[in-house]
Amino acid sequence: MHKIKRKKFSIKKTLKLIIPLLIIIVLFLSRHYLITMYQSKITGYEYKTIEVFNELDIYKDIKKETYSKTLEKIISTEYYNPKYLDAYLKTDYHETDTFYNDINTLLSLGYTSNEINNIYKNLLPDSINLLVNNDCLNDINNILSLNYFHEENLERYLKYNKEKELSFEDLITYVNIGLDKAYYTNVIDIDNPDDTSVIVNKYHKLANNYVPSDLEAINKKYNRGNNNLMRHEARIHFEEMCEDALKDDITIYSGSAYRSYSYQLNLYNRYVNQDGKARADTYSARAGYSEHQTGLATDVMNKKLGYISASDEEYTWLVDNSYKYGFLLRYPKGKENITGYMYEEWHFRYVGTDIAKEIYEQNITYDEYIARAKEK
Ligand code: DAL
Ligand code: ZN
Repeated sequence: MHKIKRKKFSIKKTLKLIIPLLIIIVLFLSRHYLITMYQSKITGYEYKTIEVFNELDIYKDIKKETYSKTLEKIISTEYYNPKYLDAYLKTDYHETDTFYNDINTLLSLGYTSNEINNIYKNLLPDSINLLVNNDCLNDINNILSLNYFHEENLERYLKYNKEKELSFEDLITYVNIGLDKAYYTNVIDIDNPDDTSVIVNKYHKLANNYVPSDLEAINKKYNRGNNNLMRHEARIHFEEMCEDALKDDITIYSGSAYRSYSYQLNLYNRYVNQDGKARADTYSARAGYSEHQTGLATDVMNKKLGYISASDEEYTWLVDNSYKYGFLLRYPKGKENITGYMYEEWHFRYVGTDIAKEIYEQNITYDEYIARAKEK
């Protein structure tokens, strides 16, 4: 007779079966936690941030190599705006009180993340605040890279940008000149009147009592006016220019060089009586605002002893050659809104050969040149 062999209950065997099962169950139950942990590990975002990503179903949009502290910080605030997700990813984080609001506003104004990064890198908090509260300043990256961008003028750039449609270079240049304000307002008292590169215009005034200390009479051969004085360096160069012009059969004379403050005052007043103030202002400087008071400028005459005009061969020669002697045509055609004066074919100003050459090559006015010089 066969004995029925009863299987012996084995604890060992049972455990072998149950433990893996339990492990599978535990893993299954904690899968959400484990996945989130893993995602946190590979992306660098905190666990709770990943939870938010998953809630919003945007984890798939977050590339694991682009950890963004900005996104990490903003996502759990009321400022998070899903349409800027991409932008947050590329915008550097800054620890300021208004950062979240500011980047949202800057993005809504049209600035890119790259521009916002540049703005934070280059500007002070007050300036950023100005940008936040104004229309978008186009080409801001180019503007910030200009060495003649002056942060203290930012409010004026923004205001002028609303009023005029200009290239970014002109916008910055014109405000630096002062053109956003009316002529003869915001006047700066000149503190370097003896500098041969001094700027004298409707925003830069010479002291009433300023008289150059090295005025000298121009050689009679090259002078036909009563105001025959020029500063030493300018006189030497003017005479040399006249001499060389003669070699090309061109005869030029100084017609009116240095004019004192009081002389200019009488002259201007005479013009005002004659033509009215508004018209006089287009061709005559008010006393203290004339380059003639520097002893560096002269109104040039032709061989017929008239002030030269664009149709004269003397004019053509001067336009082509005067820079070699350090002179420039100070009030060119088409630049009346920049210089503040009508086209004056006869008014030449000494600035030195280096600057004159640069201006000749760049074909800009002296006002623009100064406004683009690195140092103000
Ligand atoms: N005509 C020039 C602008 C002057 O008066 O100085
Ligand atoms: Zn003149």
